[in-house]
Amino acid sequence: MTRIALQLNGVRRSLDVEPRELLLDVLRERIGLTGAKRSCDVQVCGTCTVLVDGQPVSSCTYLAVEADGREVTTIEGFREDPAFERIAGAFTRHAATQCGFCTPAMVLTVHALLRDGELTDEGSIRDGLAGNLCRCTGYRGILDAVAELASEGTGG
Ligand code: FES
Ligand code: FES
Repeated sequence: MTRIALQLNGVRRSLDVEPRELLLDVLRERIGLTGAKRSCDVQVCGTCTVLVDGQPVSSCTYLAVEADGREVTTIEGFREDPAFERIAGAFTRHAATQCGFCTPAMVLTVHALLRDGELTDEGSIRDGLAGNLCRCTGYRGILDAVAELASEGTGG
């Protein structure tokens, strides 16, 4: 076991992890934060996305030991961020969720991309969200919601 310490959703946590233990498993199975979802398990679908030091990562292929000393934000923590309501509102207005399985990860990715000014037109939105798949294929609503957010130009 290796002792790691991280800032998780704004709270300092330390815990012992196996060197091979994945961040997704630690979050879901040991801490009970189930917003990040396991689907493909091979860094393709993006449903397991969390923010590490503000950047989206696939927690299904990210070792928990790599999070040592870093700041990890899950959708549960992001709910406390003022940007959450703005993004959630746009997703709701544009019916951008169906089953919702992909949505927590999608929201975190959109937040990071908006904050970094990387969403300027539909092409950049499509590129930016290419790593977040929606199995309900509700992409039109998602694209419209994110386009509305990007047009507001106030960051994620
Ligand atoms: S479950 Fe991690 S990218 Fe698909
Ligand atoms: S809303 Fe169902 S997977 Fe995206």
